[in-house]
Amino acid sequence: MIFQIQSIIYGFFNSFGVMKRIIIINGPNLNLLGKREPEIYGERSFDDFFIDLKKVFSEIDLSYFQSNIEGEIIDKLHEVGFQYDGIILNAAAYTHTSVGIGDAVKAISSPVVEVHMSNTLSREDYRHHSFIAPNAKGVIAGFGLQSYALAVRSLISE
Ligand code: DQA
Repeated sequence: MIFQIQSIIYGFFNSFGVMKRIIIINGPNLNLLGKREPEIYGERSFDDFFIDLKKVFSEIDLSYFQSNIEGEIIDKLHEVGFQYDGIILNAAAYTHTSVGIGDAVKAISSPVVEVHMSNTLSREDYRHHSFIAPNAKGVIAGFGLQSYALAVRSLISE
């Protein structure tokens, strides 16, 4: 019910072009940013970065979801994928393995930007394939946490 009311309110504002809704969806192990392999992913937690990102893009309704569970990521894509103005998806390891997440990206209508903090093409061969990229609007990889900021810019500069 609350979700429906929110949708109606946002839909009203969106129809006047007031506020874009963009969500960042992070996949497995990204809840450990700041602690996990800092030489690759840096020393900052995503929660800390997200506070600043929201300030930089205060004109948009920016939200964030993280899950280590493939089905939860698919459910979230279904939930937001016909309403939001953009989805920034770092499916992490599932990028390279999940036909299900790839199919979900294909099924929805919101534009999806695939994001990676590391340059996956300069890493192991198994990170070179993406099940998401063929149906993504674009791919941004290799700029650390700034990959997310670049993805937001790419979605709002349309
Ligand atoms: C990652 C790259 C993936 O290959 C890896 O499995 C991750 C993070 C990145 O943001 O660089 O967990 O998506």
